[in-house]
Amino acid sequence: MRILVTGATGTLGGALLPALVRAGHRVRALSRRERESTGRVEWFWGDLISGRGVADAVHGVDAIAHLATSGPRGRGAADVHGTHRLLLAAREAGVQHLLYTSVVGVDRAAIGYLGHKLEAERLIGESGIGWTVLRATRFQQSLDQRLRAYSSFPVMLVDRSLPWQPVHTGEVAALAAALLAGGPEGKEFEFGGPQVMDTEELVRTWLRARNVRRPCLPVHYPGRPYAAQRDGELVTDADSRGVITWYDYLHPAPPALSDDFATEHTASPTSPANQPENDPDLHVYGGDEGYERPTRS
Ligand SMILES: NC(=O)c1ccc[n+]([C@@H]2O[C@H](COP(=O)([O-])OP(=O)(O)OC[C@H]3O[C@@H](n4cnc5c(N)ncnc54)[C@H](OP(=O)(O)O)[C@@H]3O)[C@@H](O)[C@H]2O)c1
Repeated sequence: MRILVTGATGTLGGALLPALVRAGHRVRALSRRERESTGRVEWFWGDLISGRGVADAVHGVDAIAHLATSGPRGRGAADVHGTHRLLLAAREAGVQHLLYTSVVGVDRAAIGYLGHKLEAERLIGESGIGWTVLRATRFQQSLDQRLRAYSSFPVMLVDRSLPWQPVHTGEVAALAAALLAGGPEGKEFEFGGPQVMDTEELVRTWLRARNVRRPCLPVHYPGRPYAAQRDGELVTDADSRGVITWYDYLHPAPPALSDDFATEHTASPTSPANQPENDPDLHVYGGDEGYERPTRS
């Protein structure tokens, strides 16, 4: 199958491209940056907001994995307007299936960014194109990047009342690849990490793993999105869950074998060899959802 991936340079895209290549698909990737195509991935330049390059990118593809997002500060630009443009081009090109990655809780707390994601889901559902929605909880890789940024401050501001359910992008990508192979489901799937933990456990596990010493100051994060998270709206009890814990992600097992091929095919999903950031072909872009800088209560 020929599959176009939007958001291919993002945190999840970095895990989905190799998963699709390994599954034997012909992979086309969209970015607003010029990239050299390789034998494994055909890169197309395109911008979902202006619509430039989008018709070329969708031409001849069987399915689209639509991951692109402008993030919480993007006011729905790529998520709503970009999705609308993508759908018009995809319908014109006769694309059979669009898989959209959304966020667990959009249906329970459609506030701000989550409201934009829900609106995009609605557009997709009404597009006439076969669709599947995969709603995931917060990615471990994106939380890791965010905590690394916060660790430049002298203290970590921690709201213990918030539940988190971090999930590994490798597992989200594996599910996305399976859903693409299975064809349009016309329904939403929720997928979260194996454990729910509060912010203190999340932060302390990260500090220990990264060997960073910072005092944790208890605070109350303000705002409706955090209120919804506090109420448990952003975690899922769906049966299908990842198995890689936050601790496992932060303490990857060393690769058992030095041979490249064997390592890629046998190492655990958390080993360095299987982290997308270690794939020389794939650039990892920072995720940016949800974790707004808190203020002190
Ligand atoms: N991060 C999380 O914790 C999380 C949790 C649950 C669900 N999700 C969902 O998973 C998906 C992927 O998230 P992510 O964290 O991997 O994203 P990300 O790292 O923030 O990357 C955003 C991607 O969107 C692309 N993009 C942004 N604006 C664009 C535009 N105008 N035209 C074309 N491409 C554009 C960027 O590509 P270029 O810059 O190369 O153009 C980049 O590849 C999103 O739908 C997100 O809502 C994320």
